[in-house]
Amino acid sequence: MVNKKCEYKHNKNESVHKIDYDNKKYQNQAIMLSNKVKKQYKHFSKRYAKQNIDIFRLYDWDIPEIGVVVDWYAGHLVVAEYLKKNSDPYWLTIMAEAVAKTLDVKIENLHIKQRHTGYKDGNRYERIAHTDKKIVMSERDFKFYINLDDYVDTGLFSDHRNTRAMVRQMAQGKDFLNLYCYTGSFSCYAAKGGAKRTVSVDRSESAIQWAKENMELNEIQVDSGFTAMEKINDKNDIDSKFEIDNKEIQKEEWSQKNIFIKAHAFDFLEKAKKKGQVFDIAVVDPPSFSSSREPNTRQFQNSSTSPNFEREDLDTTRRERDLKHHFDIAQDHPQLLKAVIEVMRKDSGSVIFFSTNHQNFQLKLDVVKFSLEEDCGNFIKEIKEITSITIPEDYKTPKKQIHRCWKIIV
Ligand SMILES: C[S@@+](CC[C@H](N)C(=O)[O-])C[C@H]1O[C@@H](n2cnc3c(N)ncnc32)[C@H](O)[C@@H]1O
Repeated sequence: MVNKKCEYKHNKNESVHKIDYDNKKYQNQAIMLSNKVKKQYKHFSKRYAKQNIDIFRLYDWDIPEIGVVVDWYAGHLVVAEYLKKNSDPYWLTIMAEAVAKTLDVKIENLHIKQRHTGYKDGNRYERIAHTDKKIVMSERDFKFYINLDDYVDTGLFSDHRNTRAMVRQMAQGKDFLNLYCYTGSFSCYAAKGGAKRTVSVDRSESAIQWAKENMELNEIQVDSGFTAMEKINDKNDIDSKFEIDNKEIQKEEWSQKNIFIKAHAFDFLEKAKKKGQVFDIAVVDPPSFSSSREPNTRQFQNSSTSPNFEREDLDTTRRERDLKHHFDIAQDHPQLLKAVIEVMRKDSGSVIFFSTNHQNFQLKLDVVKFSLEEDCGNFIKEIKEITSITIPEDYKTPKKQIHRCWKIIV
């Protein structure tokens, strides 16, 4: 399978390491992995080619001792290892080269990455290389810029391609909010589905730029949006912040067709609520963890109480402002959902798609409902987990779910 005898490679410290292509255990693993990948490729490649889907998953840790993910990107392969402590740095190279050889992929089209398990998402969106090379790939009748080398993620979360299709189908004439928009793929689908307006929010400048490029690539009108919220010097003084905010954001800017807002999600939601902005569809797909700026030392006085909830849950409802600095989806999603529900159009079947890839996530529905009842009545009409239809077939594994997704009707 791996026909090289051995090869010497320099690691980052310029010391020379031997890649042990002769290692029998590695050879067997390379054979098992290649066989699995080949079978998947055979199963999916024709079907996805017919649908004009360039990106799909070929392997996700199906064999316990081979902890890698293999994705197909229109003739490129991305092979990523779930990194364990003390793993042999060149084991991954051996696995990746074996897979490339099996699928006849040239070595220059092989992209090898390491993903840390249990890391905080803060690191996840940081650069790991500087090629600045974006290539265009298709998903149905859409095109997206993909960067295969510079970040852990490539610019398109292909596991949400079904959810994107659902958004497109229901977008006609609607106000669409894409919170944590990343590269804006959901916004492109909503815009092509006839949305009256799309608002895409992310705190990352490069994500916002990328999202705009994706819209232009799909020949959708791009409006500038505003970045006022990020310009504000956040020194724990939320009131003076809003004063500055009010001056900088012009009324006309809210009514542009496709706008991009570089802002912290909670800042945006507060602002939108204050400005009476309402949405019919929202996609809320936050990172598992997000921290930014300095911790807010201000204490919170809001003291709703109920005997039915754990102390921890009640604390969560009080931490609203602190969430702008430290967000942990496991604890803080009730506050996030409450803030999103507040900007949804009421009594007209508005839909929130709420998704997370946090493993072992437990939705605290009682806390969401409770905090809504306390503040503004119970607006949730229906909540349904739709993970089984949002995860595409190539991402389905018996062991874990790549994401979980709920449809919340308001
Ligand atoms: C999981 S990705 C969202 C993926 C997106 N829904 C998609 O399908 O393409 C999370 C995004 O949240 C952004 N982000 C992280 N913390 C944020 C915050 N506090 N406010 C706004 N955006 C944030 C990151 O920059 C990243 O683009």
